[in-house]
Amino acid sequence: MSAMRHLLDLCKRRGFLFQSAEIHGGLRGAYDYGPLGVELKRNVSQEWWNAMVYQRCDVVGIDTAIITPPAVLKTSGHVDQFTDEMVDSKLSKDRFRPDKAPTLHFDKEKMHIPITAPDKKTAKLWEHEIRTNLAPGSSISREGKSIFLKMDKFNGSEIILEQESGSPVTIPYKGYVDPASNSPFLTEARPFNLMFKTYLDPIDPIDKVITTTLDGTKTTPPMDLSQTRQSVDKTLYPSLTYLRPETAQGVFINYATVQRSHPHLKVPFGIAQIGKSFRNEIRLEHAIFRTPEFEQMELEYFVAPWQADQEFTRWRKSRMDWWKRFSRNFETRFRERAHAQDELAHYSSGCVDVEYLFPWGWGEVEGIANRGDFDLRMHSEATGIKLQYTDTILMQERQQREKATGVKKTEGLDRERFIPHVVESSCGLNRAMLALMLDAMEVVDEQGKIVDLEQQMASIIGSTDNNKNWRTVMKLHPRLAPIKVAILPLVSNNPDLVDLCQSLSSELRAELQIPVSVEMQSTTIGKRYYRMDEVGTPWCVTVDYESLQDGQVTIRDRDTGVQTRVHYSKILEIVRDGLRL
Ligand code: GAP
Repeated sequence: MSAMRHLLDLCKRRGFLFQSAEIHGGLRGAYDYGPLGVELKRNVSQEWWNAMVYQRCDVVGIDTAIITPPAVLKTSGHVDQFTDEMVDSKLSKDRFRPDKAPTLHFDKEKMHIPITAPDKKTAKLWEHEIRTNLAPGSSISREGKSIFLKMDKFNGSEIILEQESGSPVTIPYKGYVDPASNSPFLTEARPFNLMFKTYLDPIDPIDKVITTTLDGTKTTPPMDLSQTRQSVDKTLYPSLTYLRPETAQGVFINYATVQRSHPHLKVPFGIAQIGKSFRNEIRLEHAIFRTPEFEQMELEYFVAPWQADQEFTRWRKSRMDWWKRFSRNFETRFRERAHAQDELAHYSSGCVDVEYLFPWGWGEVEGIANRGDFDLRMHSEATGIKLQYTDTILMQERQQREKATGVKKTEGLDRERFIPHVVESSCGLNRAMLALMLDAMEVVDEQGKIVDLEQQMASIIGSTDNNKNWRTVMKLHPRLAPIKVAILPLVSNNPDLVDLCQSLSSELRAELQIPVSVEMQSTTIGKRYYRMDEVGTPWCVTVDYESLQDGQVTIRDRDTGVQTRVHYSKILEIVRDGLRL
């Protein structure tokens, strides 16, 4: 997975992405976006908003609260069903999804359990854990990330270990034994809810219990432990709220308010939202690919029931076109994967994932779903508020007909008033950013040939990043690039050159509202070009002594390396045209 390592190294070195709270030891799964990362992320979300809202007359935006009352998420099904499965590992005190847990097979013939840890560091930890839990003299050895736990007998309740010398040692084993795999170290899989809870209460719920106990007042216990988890929560935490696990619910609960305030919106129409969502993911992986705190860009598109299939197909195409526009390797690295029937939520009649070929395999960056009327119907049933759509033109026509004929007709009423169906496009902003960076990243060797990092990783040992003769070009779409133009004075100690650079930069900033960087380092122009290639800057403009005489500057194109001499007054036009692409 060398491409990923190469990218993460670049992200840290050049200020795209930092481990959050690094100076305090960091926090797993938490990332801070540096000066260039924040620009790239804003550009991706801006291009999404541009395509989904500004370029359409049928979509409006919204920004709803993150803190969500339980009623909303109970209605949406998240309280009861938004779960994942978890097993505990007694070896590492870690938690895993069952499919990702280390499988421990007792090899009956060799009478040992071979354990492979994900890496050497974890193996050391596990080795220590096993050693401290087992009787001294037990036969345990480790080679790199492999641990061998040798034993004479394992009967489900005891592990009998051979000793280096002397008779075998019997260790009572109290953990779970999976009969199928004969694996003695894992607990049974159990579901856990992925939502983060919080409390809108100045008093910590735990303090409420402690106060009751300490002040000696005779009170009934604060909760009946035989009750369900949810009613315990209700008793103990009346102020319970959740951090939203998706932005979509904020849209559904505002369907009526948006409709009322924007009566011109006729189905089909959409409500878009970009914002943070939170999930207590059991497995945080691949840097910003899966994190507890992430951003979603979601569109809920409300359609008449008979329009749903057609709109679903149309949105699939429209979203793939968006990805195609901003990627370089669309044909080979992006694909649609339709969900199998048994993967679909019970209310959904179709769902496709947009997947990117990450260095570790295909991974979802967006889901497009035909959600039926489930969301509005559930919120409507729970609140008693009618969340429906009325076609006022059809209604008026009917009323006039009825007035003229004196005959009331019921047929066609379902076309006049209905609960809209929803076609959803839900894209992870952080994942989109990661995919688009990997897609744009090109590493070239000293001859300018593209280096296949994955292949290199397989054939050489050690970091590819140490190869000083290779350089990276981040061929981001100009509209996504964090810095649009870099202006380079040939030397930085000539005030006239620097003045010309500064005035060109001010003009570009003022006219185009874009980030421009004046690169004053005292390194060679070539090195400064390469530094700008690495962060994806599409244009570099070099100002030299001749520029002071004739106003001509050199503009260099990132992707072709072609350098052209033009009058500096032309730069604005060239950049403006390039950004229109
Ligand atoms: N409203 C539908 C919904 O939330 P989802 O498939 O659970 O659907 C949509 O999430 C997108 O959000 C995913 O395709 C992914 O890009 C992103 N996403 C989900 N969980 C994430 C996480 N823990 N970290 C980063 N992105 C995540």
